Parts: sequence; C-alpha cells; structure tokens
Amino acid sequence: MTAAAARRRFAPAAGPLTGAVRAPADKSISHRAAILAAMGERPVRIEGYLRAADTLATLDAVRALGANIDDDGEAVTITGVGLRGAREPAAAIDVRNSGTLLRLLPGWLASQPGRTFTLDGDESIRRRPVDRIVAPLALMGAAIEACDGRTAPLVVHGGALHGIEYELPVASAQIKSAVLLAGLVAEGPTTVIEPQPSRDHTERMFMSMGVTLRRAGARITVEPADLVALPDLAIPGDPSSAAFWIAAALLVPGSRVRIDNVAGNWTRTGFIAIARRMGAAIEGLLEPAGAPWSAGEPAGSLTASHGPLAATTVGEDEVALAIDELPLVALLGCFAEGDTVVAGAAELRVKETDRIATVAEGLGALGARIEATADGFVVHGSGGLRGGVLRSHGDHRLAMLGAIAGLASREGVEVDGIDAAAVSYPGFAADLERLSR
Ligand code: S3P
Repeated sequence: MTAAAARRRFAPAAGPLTGAVRAPADKSISHRAAILAAMGERPVRIEGYLRAADTLATLDAVRALGANIDDDGEAVTITGVGLRGAREPAAAIDVRNSGTLLRLLPGWLASQPGRTFTLDGDESIRRRPVDRIVAPLALMGAAIEACDGRTAPLVVHGGALHGIEYELPVASAQIKSAVLLAGLVAEGPTTVIEPQPSRDHTERMFMSMGVTLRRAGARITVEPADLVALPDLAIPGDPSSAAFWIAAALLVPGSRVRIDNVAGNWTRTGFIAIARRMGAAIEGLLEPAGAPWSAGEPAGSLTASHGPLAATTVGEDEVALAIDELPLVALLGCFAEGDTVVAGAAELRVKETDRIATVAEGLGALGARIEATADGFVVHGSGGLRGGVLRSHGDHRLAMLGAIAGLASREGVEVDGIDAAAVSYPGFAADLERLSR
C-alpha cells in the first residue's frame, strides 16, 4: 500500500450484531481457478470470482499471458492458452500484494520454453521470500532468478522440466501448489511430501479436471497431463473472511450472526475448531477433519453466537489449517479466561506483514496483554480491550482485525490503513454496517 492510508474509527457496538451476511468468494480458490483456466483451452465460466485487489491481479496476469477474459458482471469466463501456450508479456507481471499469485504462477511459467517472465509487486511483496519456490522448481530444471536469491522481482526463464520428489520444508499450500502446477507440465511424475496438511484446493481442482493425482499419507503425486480442462465452477465464500464475523459475533454481547455459503473444506476451518474448543457456539455443517479426498468444495451456512470463552493452546499441527486466522485467535484470547498460546507458527513472520510482531503491537496498543514469541504469541486474558489506534501496516487482515476489536472494545478503535481490507474483502465496511443495524 503506497497511497496515504485511510483512517477509520470503529466504535464499540451499540447493540448485538444480528442477521445474515455472505462472505466474499474464497481468495485461494479464485486464484487457482483463474490460473488453471488459463492453462486450459476451452472457456471456463467461473461464477462468484472474488473481485478483490489480489484476485483481480491474477486476472490481469493471465490476460497478460494471452488468456481471454469475459466478465459479464455475474461470472468471469476465461479462455486459456493451453498448458504450453503462455505468451511472453511486454511488461513485468504485477502481482500487487498477492503472495499466492507470486508463488503459484511461476510453477506454470517455468515450463514455457523460450519465454521469459518477470514478476514483481508492491513493497510488501518485495519483502516476502520466494526462495521457497525457487528451490524445488530449480530441482525440476527451472531457471529462475530472484533478488538476492530470496525476493521479488523474480525472473523466470521457461524451459523443459522433469518430475521430482520433494519434501516441503514448511507446511505451505503455496509451495505445494507451485510444485504440483509445474508437475502438470513436467516429464514424469512429481511427488510432494507435506509435513502437516495444508489447504488442498489445488488437489481438489486437479481431481475435478481428471488429472491423475494420488495421495498416500503425506505424499501427493501428480502425473503430467497433455491438456487440462477445468469444468465450470461456482466459488464458495471465504472462511478466512467469514472468520471476522464469527469473531465479532462471539465477542459482542447478545450477538447471533449467520454467514451463508462458506467453504467448509476441512483444510480451511481450523479457526472454527479452535474457537469451538474455547467454548464458542458455532453451528453449521463442516467437513470432518481428515475427510477423504473429493473433487469438490463443500459449502454451507454457519451461525455464531456470543458466549463466554476459555483460553486454549494452538500447536504446530493446527497452524496451517488456521494460518490466516491466527490474529483472530489472539483477539479471542484477550476476552478469554486464562492464557491463550499459539506456537509453531513462525510462518506468520513472512505473511503480508510479520504478523507475530504486528498482531502483538496492534493488540498491545489497544490494551491487550500479549507477548510475541519466536513462533507465535501468548495472550493473557484480560476481560476485554480498552481500544485505541491500530496500525494495519497495509496488511488487510490486520485492518479487519482492528475493526472487529473496535466493535468489542470499551472505547473503540481507530484503524490506520483500513483501505488495506480491499485486498481480500472490498465490501467489509458495508457488511459490518449491515450486521450492526
Ligand atoms: C494460501 C496459502 C497460505 C495463506 C495464504 C493463501 C494459498 O500461505 O497464508 O493467504 O492460497 O495457497 P502458505 O501456503 O505460504 O502458508
């Protein structure tokens, strides 16, 4: 975020939050749908594509690579260029603030012989590590240059790739997906081994496309394809966006909020499991943890109601399943009885901001008793939050965290940089007003 950051005050809720809201479309699924549609050749109609800064950057990127995009306001129809047909764009691909686009797209582009692609983005993107994808792609034969070997801009020289077996150093769906996308266009099978399960949208989409994919324990193997055809799809609501309304309902006295059409994929609902363990009343159908692989993305309604919360401990095995919602776990911890501990989450340090530092600083400024640790935080329940000013540092999830903290606080919260919410949730402030009426 370079423009002057907008400030906005979120007053303590005047009464219970009630009614229903529809979370915006899932960001992770939207990115993948656009990229996989671009890798095919027949038109793919995507209903409910997320129209937020990150995923609009993906549409611009695939357009620059030669895909045709037809947007009728309801659905986006993408006609791709084929597995090996990405055009060399005239200028650098601008991923803006999107780490997912920066990490996934090179998996495909590395396999485009004779063409060179540059990917760059905003200030925050230039601080985020890409060596985590450069290493496995280089093992597959890719030629990629990163700034100091670590960060964007990234220059990808397309060439022939071969399959590998790769053990992921961290549970990251972005690294896993980059390698699997490259595996589609490589010679021979490609296997990734996950230390912990992470979101599996890429795998589900591959299955819906008829790609040969096998899972045996932590090992996922993909066979190369001659062509791919993503079926038309409708994108369900984003559980990471829904999590803000769940937290708001849990914290504002008397509230009861329904969130419709939320993706219930168990690799995305770790926050709900953690909140339920804290005593939260959250009803609704979700896939059971460890559910067998399926090609589709389940979705349903959730209802969250206010009630007392107790502290909990979140360990490494749960982190990838709730990675983007861990700031909200810290917020719940401020209102819970006891000490809430998040550990094994050093990955938070390489998100849009260093979310261990920014969450501790942000909530600390509102009166939280929170300590940053090397790999997480400890929050001492203090019966609520006073309020104050929270700086988003251009991080969308921090901005929305500040807004929800404001509703639940005694004095309100002024969020410095609320405009960052548009990265994943442009209608956030409007939805908040609807629930507050
Ligand atoms: C994402 C994966 C996660 C998550 C990010 C989206 C994805 O990152 O934090 O917001 O769509 O694959 P990591 O896989 O690097 O943990």
